Amino acid sequence: MIILGTASDIKLLTKDGRRLDGRTNEELRPIKIETGVLNRADGSAYIEWGGNKILVAVYGPREAYPKHTQNINKAIVKARYNMAAFSVDERKRPGPDRRSIEISKVISEALDQAIMVEQFPRTQIDVFIEVLQADAGTRIAGLTAATVAVASAGIPMKDFVVGCTAGKVEGKVVLDLSKEEDNFGQADLPMAVLSKSGKVVLLQMDGDLSVEEFDQATEMILTATKRINEIQREALSTRFVAEIEEGGE
Ligand code: CDP
Repeated sequence: MIILGTASDIKLLTKDGRRLDGRTNEELRPIKIETGVLNRADGSAYIEWGGNKILVAVYGPREAYPKHTQNINKAIVKARYNMAAFSVDERKRPGPDRRSIEISKVISEALDQAIMVEQFPRTQIDVFIEVLQADAGTRIAGLTAATVAVASAGIPMKDFVVGCTAGKVEGKVVLDLSKEEDNFGQADLPMAVLSKSGKVVLLQMDGDLSVEEFDQATEMILTATKRINEIQREALSTRFVAEIEEGGE
């Protein structure tokens, strides 16, 4: 006999307060970022964050098209977030949907805050984010990798965009939600900031958090973004040190 549980039946914490994947409440999943992974793009990055696998390709700045979309004062940042049909358990119907259009918009707006868009009037910067395998937190993982891809394209930036999620499971605030925690938890809070200034450039929320829980979640995220920003910087320095060494041979 199959017994189907409801969301409230599902245990997300073990008796000793650990999460199902063994993490403590403030622990990140493993994160790996690589850059320079696509030869034809001006900039690129690949991120693995927990079970997420995401590729980013950046093109531009190039003349904005169609022409009526051009802004005479700045470059337009056009991010396109796309989930591969095979990236999730149940086949995702190819093509844009409400969710991907929303995510593309919030990622474009976040990147626009970091790139020196005023230096490139009438142009567009295209950022293609392809989710190959999804495991919760893809918008934040995609945005975190997109920043590295933009930097690797040599596009001038004021700051890095770096993000993380937090949420609530069984009444406890936890960092970097897993897929089960995202699906069956009580809240999901993706947030991204500019690394130096701390300015919030993306903030969304599903579910309920009290003011205290919200403060605790954002504190946890801010602490985590420092570590994630180091991983972003390491990815870029590894690539450019390798390039300098190859050039010097
Ligand atoms: O990925 P992110 O947390 O930014 O966005 P979400 O809308 O909260 O989705 C959470 C997770 O649900 C995704 O990362 C996927 O693992 C999963 N999902 C899915 O299985 N099928 C979809 N069509 C959309 C999302």
